[in-house]
Amino acid sequence: MTDRLNTLYSEHIATLKQRADRALAESKYDHLAVHAGAQRLQFLDDMYYPFKVNPQFKTWVPVVDNPHCWLLYTPGKKPHLLYWQPVDYWHKPADTPTGFWVEHFEITLIANPEDAKQHFPANGRTAFVGEGEENPETLVNILHWERAWKTDYELECLRRANVRAARGHRAVLKGFHDGATEYELHIDYLRATDHTEEELPYGNIIALNEHASVLHYYFHERERLDPARRHSLLIDAGAAFNGYAADVTRTYSANENDEFHDLILAMDEAQQAICDDVRPGVSYPDLHLQAHHRIADILARFNFVNLDAAAIVEKRISSFFFPHGLGHYLGLQVHDVGGFMADKSGRTIEKPEGHPYLRLTRGVEARNVFTIEPGLYFIEPLLKELAASENSGFVNWPKVDSFRKFGGIRIEDNLAVTENGSENMTRAAFNG
Ligand code: GLY
Ligand code: MN
Ligand code: MN
Repeated sequence: MTDRLNTLYSEHIATLKQRADRALAESKYDHLAVHAGAQRLQFLDDMYYPFKVNPQFKTWVPVVDNPHCWLLYTPGKKPHLLYWQPVDYWHKPADTPTGFWVEHFEITLIANPEDAKQHFPANGRTAFVGEGEENPETLVNILHWERAWKTDYELECLRRANVRAARGHRAVLKGFHDGATEYELHIDYLRATDHTEEELPYGNIIALNEHASVLHYYFHERERLDPARRHSLLIDAGAAFNGYAADVTRTYSANENDEFHDLILAMDEAQQAICDDVRPGVSYPDLHLQAHHRIADILARFNFVNLDAAAIVEKRISSFFFPHGLGHYLGLQVHDVGGFMADKSGRTIEKPEGHPYLRLTRGVEARNVFTIEPGLYFIEPLLKELAASENSGFVNWPKVDSFRKFGGIRIEDNLAVTENGSENMTRAAFNG
C-alpha cells in the first residue's frame, strides 16, 4: 500500500509504543506480550469456530485472520511479531507477511503454537494480554483508557470502513426497491462490501416490515413478500478496514408518500440535531436524555401520544418507543471498551437512573469515535407492557397499531469528535 495510510501507520505505532511504555512503567512490568488468540474446536467435532482476533493484537498488527501469533514489546526495542505459519496440507497456512506494516516488526515465523514460548523475554516481568492470559488489571485499564483517543491512522481506517459499508447499504437499497428477500439483500450486501460473513464486524441486521422492531434481528428470511406487503426496511450493517469497524443503520419506507416516510424524515432531522450538539466537553448521557426529548416531541407531533414532550419523558413513555442507548464507542470493536471509565484506574461512571442500556457515560473529548443512533420502534412486548400500565390512556392506540407493520426506525452514524465539533464519517461516506 503506497497511500498515506503508510505514514499514518508509522505514527500510530509510535503512539502505541508510548502508550505501552507508560502502561508498563505504571504497572511495573518490563515487557508486553499480546496473544492474537487461539482457534477453538466445536464440540465433538474437528471443525473450528470462526476466529475472532484479540483487539489488543490487531491494533498493532493489521492481521485479523491468523491465530496463535504474538506481539512482544520491550520499551526501546523494535516490536517482535511471532507469526504462525504451520506446515499444513489440510488448511491454507497464512501467507508470509508483506505490506506496509511489516518493516515495523522483527518477524519470526513459528510452525507450532508451542514454539512461541522459546521467544518470550527471558528476564524481567512480562505482562501477558489475551484470552485466558493473566491480563494484569492495572496495565489493561491504562490501555483501555487510552484507546478512546483514536490516532490519525485509526480515524482513516474508520473512514474507509464507512465507505465500504456505504457501498453495501446502497446495494441493499436497490435490492429493496427491486423486491429482494432479506436473505438476498444480505448476499447483495456481502458482495458490495467484498466481505465474507465472517469478516463482517457484526451480523447483518436486514429487517423488512415488523422485523425492524427486533433490535438485533440476525435472521435472514427467504420468503418473498408480495409488493403490497412490503412496507419498510431497516438495515444495520457495518464493514471492516484493517480490523476497524463501521456500524451503520438506515431505515427506508417502501412508499415515499406514506406517513412512515415522514416519520423517518423527522427522526433523521432529530438524529442530525443530536450530531450537531457533539463537541468536546458535552456529556454523552445528556445527549442521550435530550434524544428522549426529541423523540418524545415526535411522538407528540405525530399523535402517537396525547401529551407534550416533557410529560412523555417525565412519565417514561418515550422509553417504550426508544428502549436502547443513544450509542457507544466504536473502533477495534463494534462496542469498543472504555465507555464507562472515570479514569485509567478502572473506576466507572454510573448510567443515569432508568437508562440501563446506555453504553457510554465518559466525557466527550476530541479523537473519541462513537455512534449516534436514536430509534423509534413499535415493539410488540413493550407496547403490551405500556398498554397494561397506568399511562395506557395517553396513547393513541389505533394510530400506534397502524404503524406496527413498519417495525421501527433507527438511524445510526459514526462520529469522530474534533477540536470544536465532530466529523460525521458515515454521512461523508454516503455523500462521497
Ligand atoms: N449494530 C449494533 C449496534 O448498533 O450497536
Ligand atoms: Mn451501534
Ligand atoms: Mn448498528
